[in-house]
Amino acid sequence: MRKTIIAGNWKMNKTIAESVSLVKELKKISADVRNREIIVCPAFTSLSAVAAELKSSNIKVGAQNMHFEKNGAFTGEISALMLKDIPVDYVILGHSERRHVFGEGDELINKKVKAALLNGLNSIFCVGETLKERESGKTKDVIGNQVLKGLKDVSKKDIRKVVIAYEPVWAIGTGKTAAPEQAEEAHLFIRKLLGKIFDDNTSNSVSILYGGSVKPDNIKELIAKENIDGALVGGASLDAKIFYQIIKC
Ligand code: PGA
Repeated sequence: MRKTIIAGNWKMNKTIAESVSLVKELKKISADVRNREIIVCPAFTSLSAVAAELKSSNIKVGAQNMHFEKNGAFTGEISALMLKDIPVDYVILGHSERRHVFGEGDELINKKVKAALLNGLNSIFCVGETLKERESGKTKDVIGNQVLKGLKDVSKKDIRKVVIAYEPVWAIGTGKTAAPEQAEEAHLFIRKLLGKIFDDNTSNSVSILYGGSVKPDNIKELIAKENIDGALVGGASLDAKIFYQIIKC
């Protein structure tokens, strides 16, 4: 059985006090949720305070990025070891904003995925095509390539610590969600590819989340699809009550 996961990517939002206040409210209203994994991914500055607030709750904590090295002369960076020290359970890797705004490529993302695994961190590994790529019929080539390169040399045992998020770039923060059928097609393609890389059994155990303008009013249709195992939510995760409606869907 695959885990259903609802993860909130807060991006560059919220002070420490605002972050703590959000998770305090979320913790209260979602205390009875048992059938799905809830993850919040605050900015680095809020991670410690949020992790302390969520200790022994049913909500897990994730970071939004990390460097692949353990330590060293990498000004402005944070390592897996440092995240484990907080402690953090997950890290988002290869988010489209990292790929397109900060120029991260597949090789770098692969190093990060392997570093997370080496340090016992779960990752939320993101893939997705741009509008131009979709319109020129390249969606499967693009996401296939991102999956193959991003998961290069990841073992069958380790892939169980990786969650994949399919996030079409054109749907992120734009209010345009992929139609459930469009999303399911991409998810099924990724699942089949995982089956080829690993085996069917392993592929069927990997949760594949959809991301891109997920809201309380579109989550139901998306999650009803066989290969959509949850969501990575940006804007709608910044308010505890709205995020809870998505969690409860
Ligand atoms: P959005 O962001 O829900 O605001 O579109 C999703 C994401 O970037 O993970």
